[in-house]
Amino acid sequence: MASMTPQGQAELASQDGDVLRVEHISKSYGMVTALTDVNLRLARGEVLGLIGDNGAGKSTLLKILCGFQPPSSGAIFLDGREVVLKSVDHARSLGIDAVYQDLALINQLTVFQNMFLNREKISWPLVRNRAMRQEAREHLDEMGVHIPSVNVPVAKLSGGQRQAIAVARSVFSNPKILLLDEPLAAMGVKEGAIILDLVTKLKQQGNVSIIIIAHNYGQILQVCDRVNMIQDGKITLDKRADETSAEELTEVVVAEYRKALEERQRAAS
Ligand SMILES: Nc1ncnc2c1ncn2[C@@H]1O[C@H](COP(=O)(O)OP(=O)(O)OP(=O)(O)O)[C@@H](O)[C@H]1O
Ligand SMILES: [Mg+2]
Repeated sequence: MASMTPQGQAELASQDGDVLRVEHISKSYGMVTALTDVNLRLARGEVLGLIGDNGAGKSTLLKILCGFQPPSSGAIFLDGREVVLKSVDHARSLGIDAVYQDLALINQLTVFQNMFLNREKISWPLVRNRAMRQEAREHLDEMGVHIPSVNVPVAKLSGGQRQAIAVARSVFSNPKILLLDEPLAAMGVKEGAIILDLVTKLKQQGNVSIIIIAHNYGQILQVCDRVNMIQDGKITLDKRADETSAEELTEVVVAEYRKALEERQRAAS
């Protein structure tokens, strides 16, 4: 039987096979409330799509889950055990890696240097550039990411190519939980397909659980097992991908918009 203690809930979460569980998370930035009482779960090997309009709170939630910022209240459970994420490095050490919407690549460094950032191969006192170059090349080829050379500074790549490098770098670090904030934004059809194929491949391998934020419902439904919608800082929909459709998701957003509009008109009259 489920106990009401945090301990009991933790055991329950673990039995459920949830690798990640978020309970009653709220976040305020001064006067702005970005998230209100968010509950979310991610099963082992699951791909969860997080959708919602601009400013709904998606990135805020991801930044909490990757240790970039603390929640104002609420708790995070990893494999059923409560954790307080102290920093991005701390979260990474627990197997959580994120690709941010505002990418964390260093423009002046080359592709392979970015791929190995903070994980450089060193045979003291030598930095093993040749080995890193080769591994970066192999890894990108394997993932179907085509760039002319791993020796070019990322500043010389297109937005879509940079995004692909950022995702590849995270996958390369072999995380348990991968958080992708709009990896399809700024992508052409082909590059977007590369990322979607990559997510599908990772899902088939089943070693990593993924939360992916995107605005294109069609794309999200292609790769996700489940979708959660955030509206105005709250989760308003949680459905299996095969039990919903782009039309239904669009309808939910439009209905919400109409309701808000009517309320404003009523208040003004
Ligand atoms: N550092 C911050 N300081 C103050 N307010 C912030 C900060 N970060 C986000 N917000 C506010 O919190 C709300 C949620 O923002 P968030 O970036 O999470 O939205 P989002 O769902 O990711 O939107 P988008 O689809 O445009 O990326 C917005 O009202 C935003 O202005
Ligand atoms: Mg965002």
